[in-house]
Order: sequence, then C-alpha cells, then structure tokens
Amino acid sequence: MKATTHRYIIGDSFKKLQMEDDTVDLVITSPPYPMIEMWDHIWESEESSITKHIANNRGKQAWQAMHEILDQSWSEAFRVLKPGGYACINIGDATRTLDGRFQIYPNHSRIIQGCQDVGFDFLPSIIWRKPTNAPNKYMGSGMLPAGAYVTLEHEHILIMRKGERRVFAKAEKERRSESALFWEERNLWYSDLWTGIRGTQQRLNISALRKRSASYPIDLPYRLMMMYSVAGDMVLDPFGGVGTTSLAALATGRNSISIDVDDKLVSASQKIPTKRDTKDKLNLLLTNRLRDHMAYVNKKDMLFFRYRNQPLGIPVKTMQEKYLNIYMIKSISRADETVAAKYRKIKPTEIKECLSIDITE
Ligand SMILES: C[S@@+](CC[C@H](N)C(=O)[O-])C[C@H]1O[C@@H](n2cnc3c(N)ncnc32)[C@H](O)[C@@H]1O
Repeated sequence: MKATTHRYIIGDSFKKLQMEDDTVDLVITSPPYPMIEMWDHIWESEESSITKHIANNRGKQAWQAMHEILDQSWSEAFRVLKPGGYACINIGDATRTLDGRFQIYPNHSRIIQGCQDVGFDFLPSIIWRKPTNAPNKYMGSGMLPAGAYVTLEHEHILIMRKGERRVFAKAEKERRSESALFWEERNLWYSDLWTGIRGTQQRLNISALRKRSASYPIDLPYRLMMMYSVAGDMVLDPFGGVGTTSLAALATGRNSISIDVDDKLVSASQKIPTKRDTKDKLNLLLTNRLRDHMAYVNKKDMLFFRYRNQPLGIPVKTMQEKYLNIYMIKSISRADETVAAKYRKIKPTEIKECLSIDITE
C-alpha cells in the first residue's frame, strides 16, 4: 500500500449522491440525530411540517418525519456500496420533553428499520458506552421515587451489510493479510460493548470545530475501518463533519470520501490533514498499536505466541497475523478538494522504539 486519496465534498446526503452504484467498500457515518435540538434546523429546512409538529408538541410525528428524510440516505448508502460492503452507523437515542411529557425517541431502532427496508441485513452491533462523571447526568425526581429516569450513557453503532459476505479476489488477498488484526485487538473490538473510548479524542483533539460538528472520537472510525475493510479500500462518510472518518482512513491506509452540507466544516476538514502535527498524531496511532501489542505480549507466557510475524519480526498468536503489516504515513499533501497521502514501511528503529522486549533474541 503506497498511496491513498481523500476527497472532501460539499453536498446534500439527503438527496441522490453524485456517485456510481457499487463503488464503495465501507460506509462509516454518524448522521444528525433526530429530536436532538441542536439539529432541529436541519430537518426543519427540509420539511416545514416538522416545525409545526414541534410547535404543537407532536413529538412522534416530528420524529417520524425526520427519519423519513434520513431514510433516503440509507437508500443511497445501499446503492453505492459494493455487494458485501458494510455500513456502520453511529447514532444516539434522544430524550426530550414536549408539552410536559418526557420521553425517549429510539433513533437506533428506527434506523434499523429504515436500513432493513432499503435492503440491508442487520448484523450484531455495538453499544458504545461513553463514560461521564457529570453530576447532572441523572434526570427526573432525584432521590424520590418514582419519577427519575435511568441515565443515557451509551450510543449505538449499528452494523449493516449489503448482501452476503464479501468475496476477496486473488489480487486483494495480500492486502487482506496485511490488514489482519492482532489477536487481542480482535478480542477487544469484536465485542458488543465498547467502553473507555475517550483517550484518543483527547490525543487527537485537532479542531475547535469539533463541537459544532458533534464529531466522534477517531477511535470509532479507526476500529470500524480495521474491522470491516482492508487497506486500499474506499470508505464513504455521507455526514463527514470535520472529517474524522477521513483522518482514520489516512491512518489506516484506506481511501475516503467525506460529504457534508456545511461548507465551513468541509473547508476545515480539507485543511486538518495537512496541519503541521496531524501526520505525527496519526502515526502515533500506528506506533501505539505496536506498543499495545508488545505490552500484551509481555504480560503472557511466550509459549502463548506460536508464530512470528514476518514483516515486523514480532511474536503473534495465530497464523492469520503472520503477514500483518504497519505502514507509516510518509507525507500528506493537498490540491483543492483532494488530499493525498504516501506511505512507507515502518523502520526497524521505530519498531524497536515500540518494544519493551528485545526482539532480536
Ligand atoms: C453528527 S455530525 C457528524 C460528525 C462527524 N462524524 C465528525 O466526526 O465530524 C452530523 C453532520 O451531518 C452534517 N449534515 C447535516 N445535514 C446534512 C446533509 N443533508 N448532507 C450532508 N451532511 C449533512 C452536519 O453538518 C454534521 O456535520
């Protein structure tokens, strides 16, 4: 894997995308959340009845109308995905009080329905538990029963697939082997409960625009890309915001297209990859991967690791990890709406720096 490209486009993903059918390997996205007030203007500008529904406290009708707008996006995601391609959708449910009635609007279940209706198969999915210590996280009547509500401290990552499992062509097999996960990454990531994802967001807190775009931490698209695509694939985020998905694509050696309706966010997302320290921050994700693996190796009996990974010369647990490879970002450049990255093999000195055991023995 020598190079990738990343396009940042101003566009409306509630409409037909300017993309051919069956051209994308993976969709990773987080749409505006229906019934979360910060996004009301988005839905209201699409459908005037939504303003009236909210003004007249018709919460369920407003919610349904918002999802009907979003359904078109799932239909487009399905159309542009290649057969066997995945869509990973991060969504939170919304709580809201209208006319004195507090209730939850279960966005995740309505999106599952919307995706199934356009043809997706719904697969085992992930609860992302977001740690919060905020004292105001409890809702309702406090210590007095029975008017308090359980706190909402999780979001969903819904995993959809277009048809049957992807069949890898012969020419793709090397990319697939190089894209293998470490044993312990597999064990942690293919779990239905993700906790403690906050660290990387702090490490990669690149822009103040994150709040405006309600961006997710880079760990989310990073893990999902490693789990549901291989290096060299094309990843689409139709609600790209500040381009977190594309940053993860840069780090993992996938190509990407990021679409957002907000021209300021698109403009910012184009600039972030070529900022002075972005390359180093992304490369840190890669060396940390190796460091975490070696920390795991150190905790175990060496007999546990039956194989030696060839490109990196490190112990691994399974045959499938034998050709796993890590490519560092060599350069990131930008021309208009497109960012290009070049990669290089990780240097033996960099590998050594990541290891706390002597691998030459
Ligand atoms: C939850 S945010 C996604 C944030 C993104 N994952 C990130 O890390 O920056 C939803 C995004 O959808 C964008 N959006 C809203 N309506 C849109 C539309 N019709 N087409 C494309 N993008 C839209 C918003 O501007 C916002 O950036």
